[in-house]
Amino acid sequence: MQSSAPRTLLVRGGDPRWNALFAAALPGLRVVAAPDDAESIDLFAGWNPEPGLFARLPRLQAVFALGAGVDAFLRRPDLPGSLPLVRLLDAGMAEQMIEYALLGVLAWQRHLLRYEALQQQHAWQPQAPRTRAGTRVAVLGLGEIGAQVARALSGLGYPVAGWSRTLRDVPGVRCSAGLPALGPLLEATDVLVNLLPSTADTRGLLDHARLAQLPSGALVVNAARGDQLDAEALLSLLDDGRLGGALLDVFASEPLPPEHPLWRHPQVRITPHVAAVTLPERAVEQIAANILRLQRGEAMHGIVDRARGY
Ligand code: NAP
Ligand code: GLV
Repeated sequence: MQSSAPRTLLVRGGDPRWNALFAAALPGLRVVAAPDDAESIDLFAGWNPEPGLFARLPRLQAVFALGAGVDAFLRRPDLPGSLPLVRLLDAGMAEQMIEYALLGVLAWQRHLLRYEALQQQHAWQPQAPRTRAGTRVAVLGLGEIGAQVARALSGLGYPVAGWSRTLRDVPGVRCSAGLPALGPLLEATDVLVNLLPSTADTRGLLDHARLAQLPSGALVVNAARGDQLDAEALLSLLDDGRLGGALLDVFASEPLPPEHPLWRHPQVRITPHVAAVTLPERAVEQIAANILRLQRGEAMHGIVDRARGY
């Protein structure tokens, strides 16, 4: 059946500002905040809407995620497999992620966790200086965000290795692809930055065996999804003194439960899923351009490949 040009956008951004931005960017479209007239809604933009919502919208033509990672959308039984699911491509997140990754890199290079511990003891103990050239960084995931992070860190003088599913070419970055390349990469990494999407292939990827391949004292930055990293394995490797620290933004269960041991570990630093937040103006600009493409019958940018899972 031929779909008619979309006319009504349901927005569930968690803040009324989203609706105003969409209405201003798409004056020809009706922008609504509730699915009162479910038959009229042909577009959706949001993040983690209530369960079952998509099954109640029979005329949906496309779903726009207000974020980069769509694992939560793909887990939903109410999202028809045939419906285009469109995600954000960078939209200002890569720049924030560069800063976050750099935070981890500098924490390792400048012994920040060690000095914090020494400060507790009022101990004046200079550590052996580390250079940028001697700080080996690996970025897992060389997509819209990871490639920019890898490139930026390389531009600052860090030796950067990048890893992806298919071989990528990122200037200044030593690229490799596929599982057989992962072990050798981990063995030569001081700061591991995870920027992979959560898929059937990446969930649980950073398990005890793989984390144990990192050199002694390495630091793990996880800013992708919590289900990719075995938190218990991380804690045990930190306790054994095998790993030096972790900067964690994402967790298997969010918010991280108050009783979780990660909160208390002296070598773990926690941020509440804010490494790279969605910037409403940039997101609306990108989604509006896609809606106009859809109305013109053109291909949208950022359609998720359901078979790959990202
Ligand atoms: P993307 O453009 O889809 O890039 C994904 C990258 O991961 C690609 O390079 C891809 O390889 C690689 N990859 C996928 N599966 C792989 C596998 N099995 N083995 C090796 N490499 C694999 O994603 P993005 O926009 O850069 O975002 C990445 C993730 O960051 C998101 O999915 C989200 O979970 C997370 N994120 C977190 C925050 C935060 O605030 N914490 C903010 C934004 C995003 P190919 O290049 O070969 O396709
Ligand atoms: C945030 O985690 C995102 O995927 O955009």
